[in-house]
Amino acid sequence: MTDLESLLNDRLAAAFAAVAGEPVDPVVRRSQHADFQADGALPLARRLGRAPRDIAADALGRADLADLVATAEISGPGFINLKLRDDALAGLVGAMSGDERLGVPPAAAPETVIIDYSAPNVAKEMHVGHLRSTVIGDAAARTLDWLGHDIRRANHVGDWGTPFGMLIEHLLDLGETEAAHELSVGDLNGFYRAARVKFDADPAFAERSRLRVVALQSGDPTTLRLWRLLVDESEKYFLAVYDKLGVTLTAEHFFGESYYNDLLAPVVDALDGLGLLRESDGALCVFPRGFTGRDGEPMPIIVRKRDGGYGYGATDLAAIRHRTQDLKATRLLYVVGSPQHQHLEMVYQSAREAGWLAAPARAEHIGFGQVLGADGKKLASRAGDTVKLVDLLDEAVARAAAIVAEKNPELDADTRAEVARMVGIGAIKYVDLSSDRIKDYSFHWDRMLSFSGDTGAYLQYTHARINSIFRRGAVSPDRAAAVLLGSPAERALAMELLGFAAVVADAAETLQFHRLTGYLQNLAGAYTAFYDNCPVLKAEGAVRESRLLLCDLTARVIAQGLALLGIEAPERM
Ligand code: ARG
Repeated sequence: MTDLESLLNDRLAAAFAAVAGEPVDPVVRRSQHADFQADGALPLARRLGRAPRDIAADALGRADLADLVATAEISGPGFINLKLRDDALAGLVGAMSGDERLGVPPAAAPETVIIDYSAPNVAKEMHVGHLRSTVIGDAAARTLDWLGHDIRRANHVGDWGTPFGMLIEHLLDLGETEAAHELSVGDLNGFYRAARVKFDADPAFAERSRLRVVALQSGDPTTLRLWRLLVDESEKYFLAVYDKLGVTLTAEHFFGESYYNDLLAPVVDALDGLGLLRESDGALCVFPRGFTGRDGEPMPIIVRKRDGGYGYGATDLAAIRHRTQDLKATRLLYVVGSPQHQHLEMVYQSAREAGWLAAPARAEHIGFGQVLGADGKKLASRAGDTVKLVDLLDEAVARAAAIVAEKNPELDADTRAEVARMVGIGAIKYVDLSSDRIKDYSFHWDRMLSFSGDTGAYLQYTHARINSIFRRGAVSPDRAAAVLLGSPAERALAMELLGFAAVVADAAETLQFHRLTGYLQNLAGAYTAFYDNCPVLKAEGAVRESRLLLCDLTARVIAQGLALLGIEAPERM
């Protein structure tokens, strides 16, 4: 284990427990005054009826820290300040360098995790909300996968429901070939809008559409074939967007709403059998405990509508039951925009009442805010429409290409195009993942693509600069070299490196990726200070070997950290 914080935590927890006679959180954290501080004594004072400084001293006396800690002091009301031994830090950095996993242990108890993400709607353009879901969900999938969990990606595509009546009729009006063409070039909104216009203006069309919904729901083969065509064309388009975006979602991960059709009737029966269904306005509803509207009335999830059709909520109930009971998942992540928070909480609560979501299984809404333009308003195209995702991605890559060409004119055209892709797409993902996901964030192209500041490009650039040291010196670092931490900048870099495991564990738990990006920024900052103060190629002997190792380990941690976020790190840029 190279995770300093957990090492200190374990040792101090044992000592505090001996003092208190019960388990205690020693509250270890990084400190400005020392390397770490432990504040565990303070909350114990009242319970033990002793001064916190006294408790801290007692715990320190019992703690087995000799191999790790150089000095330990009690300060203020009872904080324990710990300064680590240089040889301990060096040993841990050496162990981290020798480890393919960079000191990050695989999960002790791997779980089956469902990640419900992306989920665009058939025959509708993906919007920036789907972009956020896709980027965040993919980072979650990559991170949890790297930790050894069994990841099931579930792309809950909106591929069923009443709009398909009008969409199919519109498809017939256009002719299959023309319709397929429109959809495959990604004019999804145009297709949808045209259908809608006819539906509103032409009663005969509206009537045909209604009959078509009935035919779809009763499984009429011709209708199903036409429906499938719409779904296939849209899915092809979504896959092209995923490919551009560089995410791990593939055709195998489409589990659209229609996937659950056969499970809907059994779900209704089961809910009925459990006494959880109530009729309201001709519809069958579940009223999960704890949800009331503004008027204090209980709020329903409509399971079966008055017309006999099933809705969004019924599908989510069928999906959750399938996920826990058939797939045996214990962690269910729903990466969906914040406006659907209440809907999801109602689904979870209903599932709990039905016994379909019981410990150790739990569901978490991984919510997120909106994407705004530089003007702070909802991101829109010049014409005022919602921005098309592909356009956004293409623009990012084009802008990155211009910047890369200016910064490094020596790159050949192929490399330049490749780097521009990594930087442009990386910028889109980074700006999303580096902001507190619950909040809105805005797109500022210049800021996002800058090679300095809190950007993906800065991290990529730091990584590429380290690789250029190896190229210039024609050296390959010895990962087993002895680590020497003679200068403060080397020591500070070592401290940062040793924080990687803790930050990955935190990201896996909270899916707050901005903490991981913040860590990578601090690491890159510590590296820059080290590089400014400590010559690498000009150093000699063991010092040179050690510094090369520190460079190499920094580059590996940055690349791995970015990989967890789905961002590539070019060797040169
Ligand atoms: N298709 C939905 C939308 O575009 C998102 C689906 C989210 N997942 C779920 N299981 N409800 O809003």
